[in-house]
Amino acid sequence: MQLTQKEQMYLKDAKHHEELCIAKYNHYTQTVSCQQLKQILSWAGQQEANHLNIVSQLLQGQVPEMGGQQGGMSGGQSGQQGSMGQGGSISQVLNQMGSQGSKQQSGSTSGSTQQQGGGGKGQSYSGSMMPSTTASQTQFTGQGMLSDQQICNDLLTTEKAVSDMYDHAVFESTDQQLRQALSHIQKEEQGHAFALFQYMQQKGWYQAQ
Ligand SMILES: [Fe+2]
Ligand SMILES: [Fe+2]
Repeated sequence: MQLTQKEQMYLKDAKHHEELCIAKYNHYTQTVSCQQLKQILSWAGQQEANHLNIVSQLLQGQVPEMGGQQGGMSGGQSGQQGSMGQGGSISQVLNQMGSQGSKQQSGSTSGSTQQQGGGGKGQSYSGSMMPSTTASQTQFTGQGMLSDQQICNDLLTTEKAVSDMYDHAVFESTDQQLRQALSHIQKEEQGHAFALFQYMQQKGWYQAQ
């Protein structure tokens, strides 16, 4: 596949974005206190790694194979791609969130105010990363630490920017296979944003208007 200058420019941009996304998701997976959020971030982070593989191949003029799996396209090079065993599991994670609500949070709350559903505000951390104060999750936890809510907001903003970038990239693509590959990635970015949104909505951190 012969890339135009513009296509190369967008793909280089995409590569940087994906690298940043991988770094963010990896870092935040370690940082957040909520186990469910960890699962979501870990899932998204693996997809970001797959995106980087795809974009890297595209930059070399290669056309990644469209994998049949939900997890995405298999690049056919490293074997890493296409092995996204967790590709479909995020819906299970989110379903669990819906049905068992506070069950998994029991380890990360002080138990003082076990609120249901959107009652995230009154909960306090007792996890290793957070002091067991009753501070609202909307506040700074001190020393430059981000709260789970702030991390979700940052990731949601990131996903939106990345999705916008892919949107432009698709429209500037002259090759059908390139368009498909970029659209595929963009769709997964939207999936990340939606998973974050659903999580945040359950916590009462996101009021749809
Ligand atoms: Fe990505
Ligand atoms: Fe993403």
